Amino acid sequence: MDILFIADPLDHFKIYKDTTYAMMAEAFRRSHTLYACEPQHLAWTGGVVEAGAKRITIVGDLANGDRSPWYAAEQAEHRVLASFGAVLMRKDPPFDMEYVNATWLLEMAECAGARVFNKPQAIRDHSEKLAIAEWPQCVPTTLVTCDAARLRAFHAEHGDVILKPLDGMGGMGVFRVKQDGMNLGSIVEMLSENGERTVMAQKFIPEIKDGDKRILLIGGQPVPYSLARIPQGNEVRGNLAAGGLGRAQLLSARDREIAETLGPVLQARGLLLVGLDAIGDYLTEVNVTSPTCFREIMDQTGFDVAGMFIDALERAVG
Ligand SMILES: Nc1ncnc2c1ncn2[C@@H]1O[C@H](COP(=O)(O)OP(=O)(O)O)[C@@H](O)[C@H]1O
Ligand SMILES: [Mg+2]
Repeated sequence: MDILFIADPLDHFKIYKDTTYAMMAEAFRRSHTLYACEPQHLAWTGGVVEAGAKRITIVGDLANGDRSPWYAAEQAEHRVLASFGAVLMRKDPPFDMEYVNATWLLEMAECAGARVFNKPQAIRDHSEKLAIAEWPQCVPTTLVTCDAARLRAFHAEHGDVILKPLDGMGGMGVFRVKQDGMNLGSIVEMLSENGERTVMAQKFIPEIKDGDKRILLIGGQPVPYSLARIPQGNEVRGNLAAGGLGRAQLLSARDREIAETLGPVLQARGLLLVGLDAIGDYLTEVNVTSPTCFREIMDQTGFDVAGMFIDALERAVG
């Protein structure tokens, strides 16, 4: 089938670790036809949503992550989204207003018959940080508020806390404040922009020393291995972008319980690929925009995550 990948510019891909590349390579290996565009190449015209998309072929040895070029592209052509067998939204966050605009356009395309993954409405409906609230039995003690006094009271009660923005990524703006309250005032003022922005405060989970575990759900089913992203040195953040070390490991019984609780619900909402994050026994994020970590799990365990994903995609479009 023809598969359209809506992604960041292909020339910026680091293919040795890129999840979208892993998907493309597997789809290409199975003789699907690949197209690529960026969100700004979507347009609504004449009553239909189309994309200025380039047909691409993958060149060279698929397994060689160092090669350049890794693809060849034809001239962009304008194609109605419904004419593709599947459309994969793989743009990385930030989840800003332009991202939301893209989901609206994609939803219009869906109404005209396009098969879009993840489902645009579900992408919009799941705040990656706040969506955890739907499963209170899985979440750490958490407060979400703009109110500086309440954030300070949360620290006074729990002593060792994490403060983070709701729209951050890659660990940006994530602070730990210990019992001594060092810098609490400034951090609260900065993150809440003096009471105008919503902040998430969470009890510090000591098990972060064993990693922030990425649990992938594909078609509602968990990948059997998580990627534990382990903070290095004095760093509190496990994000790979913040220097965290990725270690693939089998899901724990609790990881599996969380995955099995959320999997069917998220799948039914049209979320074909979700990246849950868990620290210790707690769910901390539900990533729906452009989940990653395929490559690291595939390389360390040999488990074919990309194969599982393309299988699920092929099933989903029937
Ligand atoms: N409640 C917590 N307890 C311990 N560490 C945390 C907690 N929340 C976040 N962190 C640390 O901060 C990092 C980034 O936080 P996260 O909520 O995942 O936001 P982001 O969207 O930026 O990845 C995590 O990988 C983890 O190392
Ligand atoms: Mg995270």
